[in-house]
Amino acid sequence: MIGQANEATPRAAKDGAAGSPLVCVKDLSVIFDAGRAGFWGRKRLQVHAVEKVSFDIHPGETLGLVGESGSGKSTTGRAILGRVPVSSGTIYFQGKEITHAGKERVRALSRHMQLVFQDPYASLNPRMKIVDIVAEPLLVHGLVKNTKEAAGEVAQLLELVGLPPDAGARYPHAFSGGQRQRVGIARALALKPQFIVADEPVSALDVSIRAQVVNLMQDLQARFGLAYLFIAHDLAVVRHISHRIAIMYAGNIVELADRHLIYESPVHPYTKALLSAVPVPDPPVQRARQRITCPGEAPNPMDPPSGCRFQSRCPYVTQTCRDTAPVLTSRRPGQTAACWNC
Ligand SMILES: Nc1ncnc2c1ncn2[C@@H]1O[C@H](COP(=O)(O)OP(=O)(O)O)[C@@H](O)[C@H]1O
Ligand SMILES: [Mg+2]
Repeated sequence: MIGQANEATPRAAKDGAAGSPLVCVKDLSVIFDAGRAGFWGRKRLQVHAVEKVSFDIHPGETLGLVGESGSGKSTTGRAILGRVPVSSGTIYFQGKEITHAGKERVRALSRHMQLVFQDPYASLNPRMKIVDIVAEPLLVHGLVKNTKEAAGEVAQLLELVGLPPDAGARYPHAFSGGQRQRVGIARALALKPQFIVADEPVSALDVSIRAQVVNLMQDLQARFGLAYLFIAHDLAVVRHISHRIAIMYAGNIVELADRHLIYESPVHPYTKALLSAVPVPDPPVQRARQRITCPGEAPNPMDPPSGCRFQSRCPYVTQTCRDTAPVLTSRRPGQTAACWNC
């Protein structure tokens, strides 16, 4: 019964990040091989997608992971799920190392860790009925012999995500984007996981229905004690659901702090720029706000600079920034930032 799964009180949500972490990522780097270039193809091309990323996620906690496109957010989430090979660093789940888990282990771990995809239009097979889509993980893991046997469970899952009871008999095309994402969430919940990587789960949806899907995810978290890595490309989306937020830039985490500190007293210039792009619902306040821009381009991930990766866009850049990459250091309780000058 899904209603009885993981019924633990979301501890981190109530007490802050106390107790042992569910997921622990230490110095994670992912470098993709991108073929060869140059005369005779002598030069090996490598994409430095994620470099030395560290964070913990506690049971019942949401860590928001925010950054612009190409900053390495999806790669970080996929590395935890064993979907991309880790170049260096360590990943733990429930205290056990899973960094280089093989195919079988990844399959076994998928009972505990699931992915909700960004695009509910592309991630649901248009030729499968909703009941088959939601029952698929149960079948794959041998928990039911056929879809018929899973019917009761699927009906409960559909109800849980707010879909009508007859939804199972229909195909994805009969549903809106928001409803399709509910199907994606029901499928992710089928195995009663403890941890979900939600990779921009509302980015492809109309602004008007984003809040509904975020609220649903929040309700499910409160009910089942789920932990989320909630990925987004702007700070508006993660505001209400996150307990802590990590800001990612060009493969690095530049700031990681409790939610309220990110919004009330951000430290890193990139966090400030991201925050100034979030509209405030009060017109006079919005008009009085200064938009902080950091002109310039993100570094080429095939040839990242030595030193701070934000140097080409930073208004405070100094020689130290060009020479040496800053690491995350504590700024106040609950807030860390990687910057020499802020
Ligand atoms: N399979 C892959 N092979 C080569 N490069 C990749 C692969 N996946 C992602 N990348 C590159 O890694 C960087 C980070 O990508 P990604 O994690 O998808 O960023 P985000 O999710 O923040 O948009 C990008 O430069 C992207 O082009
Ligand atoms: Mg992505």
